[in-house]
Amino acid sequence: MAGLPLKGALSDEQLPIVENGGIIMVDEKIHAIGSYPQIQAEANGLNAENINIQTNMVCLPGLIDAHTHICFGGSRAKDYALRNSGKTYLEIAKAGGGIWDTVTETRKATTSSLIEGVKTRADRHLTHGVTTIEVKSGYGLSVQEELKMLRAIALAKEQCQSDLIPTCLAAHMVPKDYKGGPADYLLEISTSLFPILKKEQLAKRIDAFVEEGAFSPASIAAYFDKAKAMGFDITVHADQFSTGGSGVAVKYKAVSADHLEASSEKEIQLLAKSNVVATALPGASMALGCNYAPARRFLNAGAALAIASDWNPGSAPMGNLMVQAAVLGAFEKLSNTEVLAGITYRAAAALNLQDRGILKTGLLADFIAFPTNDYQEILYQQGMMPPSLVYKKGKLAVN
Ligand code: NIG
Ligand code: FE
Repeated sequence: MAGLPLKGALSDEQLPIVENGGIIMVDEKIHAIGSYPQIQAEANGLNAENINIQTNMVCLPGLIDAHTHICFGGSRAKDYALRNSGKTYLEIAKAGGGIWDTVTETRKATTSSLIEGVKTRADRHLTHGVTTIEVKSGYGLSVQEELKMLRAIALAKEQCQSDLIPTCLAAHMVPKDYKGGPADYLLEISTSLFPILKKEQLAKRIDAFVEEGAFSPASIAAYFDKAKAMGFDITVHADQFSTGGSGVAVKYKAVSADHLEASSEKEIQLLAKSNVVATALPGASMALGCNYAPARRFLNAGAALAIASDWNPGSAPMGNLMVQAAVLGAFEKLSNTEVLAGITYRAAAALNLQDRGILKTGLLADFIAFPTNDYQEILYQQGMMPPSLVYKKGKLAVN
């Protein structure tokens, strides 16, 4: 996908395909990539080992899941059943279930069980070809409990083959046991937690849930001002049930605005004119039984569209990025190239990562190979044809 634009619609005619291709990897990176005869000539001078990945395989960049909450305790199977019996997500949250239920379970969990949970989910993602995974905190909701989560994510990262990109989501909701208002809570987090995140290098990204029942655009302003001033990247849970979050994302030059199921033409134009990546989360639409983000309209308006799993115990328990991206493509009429861009280089942009997402000289040797000679089979099989080989930073991670 080298040479494709970051923003806007993409046709399948634009997808750059190298037939009979080869990659030379040196250490963690792609040293050269191109047609096999050309690559072979270059490799001769390097005394390289020749790994022949059979014929009839299609290679893609390692997939990037730019939005997950895979660090948590407990299960919310009962919320799923309640929703399917007619209760809404916000009603369940107001009645004390929802995010708060997972906060209670996550606070009870030990660090080692949180690490195990993250590792198990990240390893499953790796077998599906996901080599980079963003992981949010947000089920601790106090300085100490958020630190417990972010330290668990950092420890899991050391033990995983995939790259985990941590994000602080202490602004997921005002904790029900907090003795003070939203402004007091956010001030405490930004004053006490942000400096520790910097010192221990626990997260470079700050996220907030801008929504009814969580934080309003006005109540999050001082928090994001502080985060920006300290040099954090901003990302926003925006326009999930009501609008307002995408405006906050644009105002704070966020790297991404995620969800967008409720975005209308105004929000579409706003994001399309900005450099904020619009991230659709089809897994949340599938588990909540609601509409998908208007991905087609975002692309037609010129936005950069990423697609992420939102894997979490409440609104998106499935956690299969390829299934979800393929289904979004079918509902929203996205070209194969738009879907693949959304889970590779456009997802890298949503994480502000310049070293991956494209198979290109100098970038990380993260790539996956599918058992087919036709790239169209990959999305056509809607996630049921996992890659047979997964290379992470030049090493075979799954085969
Ligand atoms: O992205 N919308 C807010 N946060 C998560 C859900 C978290 C939860 O329900 O546990 C989301 O869907
Ligand atoms: Fe989320």
